[in-house]
Amino acid sequence: MQTIYYDLRDTKGQQKEIEEKISAAAKILREGGLVGIPTETVYGLAANGLDEQAVKRIFEAKGRPQDNPLILHVTGPQWLPRYCRDIPPMAYVLARKFWPGPLTMILKCRTDVVPGATTAGLDTVAIRCPNHPVTLAIIREAGIPIAAPSANTSGRPSCTTAQSVLEDMGDKIEGVVDGGPCAVGVESTILDLTCDPPRLLRPGGLPVEAIEQLIGPISVDKAVTGTLAEGEKPRAPGMKYRHYAPKAPVTVVTGAPEASAQEIQRRAGPTSGVICFDEYAHLFSRQEVHKLGPSGDKLAQAQRVFDALRTFDGSGVTEIFAQCPDSRGLGLAVGNRLKKAAGFHIVEADSLRIILGLTGCTGAGKTSALAAIRDLGGTIIDCDAVYHQMLAENEDLRNAINASFPGVFRADGTLDRKKLGQEVFAKKERLTRLNGIVFRFLIPELERQIQHTGDGLYAIDAINLLESGLDRLCDRTIAVTAPAELRVRRIMARDNISEQYARLRISAQKPDEYYRSKCDCELNNSAETPAEFQEAARRFFVRLLETIREEKRRGAQ
Ligand code: TXA
Ligand code: MG
Repeated sequence: MQTIYYDLRDTKGQQKEIEEKISAAAKILREGGLVGIPTETVYGLAANGLDEQAVKRIFEAKGRPQDNPLILHVTGPQWLPRYCRDIPPMAYVLARKFWPGPLTMILKCRTDVVPGATTAGLDTVAIRCPNHPVTLAIIREAGIPIAAPSANTSGRPSCTTAQSVLEDMGDKIEGVVDGGPCAVGVESTILDLTCDPPRLLRPGGLPVEAIEQLIGPISVDKAVTGTLAEGEKPRAPGMKYRHYAPKAPVTVVTGAPEASAQEIQRRAGPTSGVICFDEYAHLFSRQEVHKLGPSGDKLAQAQRVFDALRTFDGSGVTEIFAQCPDSRGLGLAVGNRLKKAAGFHIVEADSLRIILGLTGCTGAGKTSALAAIRDLGGTIIDCDAVYHQMLAENEDLRNAINASFPGVFRADGTLDRKKLGQEVFAKKERLTRLNGIVFRFLIPELERQIQHTGDGLYAIDAINLLESGLDRLCDRTIAVTAPAELRVRRIMARDNISEQYARLRISAQKPDEYYRSKCDCELNNSAETPAEFQEAARRFFVRLLETIREEKRRGAQ
């Protein structure tokens, strides 16, 4: 069968042409045919929901098990009494607030109207009003409720573009309507209203928090959070199938993003595939990677999750590791799709906060050591940058400096650094006084920043780590040291200075011995190249982090 493609991505163009395409799609449906349709969640495979024969064709085209009922798509709550009975007032409250939108409600079914093929013989029916202008126009034009499961072949990830519908369904259906890529990317949230309190059967495009805000607490079906025991039946029959599964086995790693990225780094080999947040993709240069979106953008993750799973099928990866968002908002749906793909094979990465403090002489290799921490997914806190930011924004800090060193601020409020430098470097007592002021403001600000960003790995980069009291924030302080001769050569090359000047600069600093005696541990750098040292530093930190995690775990018990 030739599948007709209707391009309706642009609905602002030629109105007549658009109406003709909508009428054509509606006509196919009225006559018992199948059409791929766009919705805001995923593409649907539509048929006349009241036509038993048409509905049966959906099951054939998808290879869908007969016991898995379909959702009826309507244009608004006024359609509810036609197909449902004993409708609780709460259904109208929800519909008024969330329709059109990604909410499917399970209600008691008027079995005299809706054929058993649509509901798979259940006495309840799933019903929703999709938020897509093209599909709403098609339903209106057809004048019938549309039964539509997701348009993928059963067991494959759902389709979020018309192109993937053609891949799965081309030649099996009469038409595909292209309404552009789906805005939400995961299927609708399914809420069962035949029980009290209402029960979440499938997390989806409408966050649970939004529902609970409107109607109070709801319960969550077991099938949402784990696999069911042999013989146990989920309330949404579709939840028992191992959907969305790529060919390679999937492991989902939960926990704070830094921690889960590190856990995957430890586990992944050269033939592993990785699904990760954008920020961590650089950690997996040896692996095939599909990005899920920024760790803070769950809508982007929802839009990409199926594609990320789908695209591994064409590759030779032997196992897949996936980072998982927390379960707030759309995170519950994204995590659920990943976990289902993994058959709920889940590894928990520790979501602990670990703060390392790095210090050491110039030329020892602090920059490469920090790069190694960044490679492990850590966040670098550059105290110098924080100080300058605070100078620009914090009135109290400026006033405190000005009170002690009058005249160092220009008329426009900016700091005359040269002048302040001249004042403080002349007398040691003045430098100590300035540092006292700066650290008094800096430490709470750093604490606030770390608190705000949450768990994970942090490294504090501070010249005066030990003198400032910043070391008290750290789980470990690390002295980065290197043989003096090597440091001379390095800073000559790095800063393009003479040997004599390099030696002078080094002799003006504290010796390695000072850092060694004051820090918790030492990272010695006698490597030939920065890249070689960075690799050695990476191994050092992996071991150190394991020790710290172990300690924290024991401490928590
Ligand atoms: O976003 C969506 O909901 C998409 C778009 C196309 O609207 N549709 C969709 O349909 O995801 P489908 O068939 O892939 O998933 C429907 C789910 C299945 O898990 C099915 O078992 C459940 O809804 N379901 C349907 N009728 C039900 C009923 N009466 N009681 C409990 N669960 C039901
Ligand atoms: Mg589906």
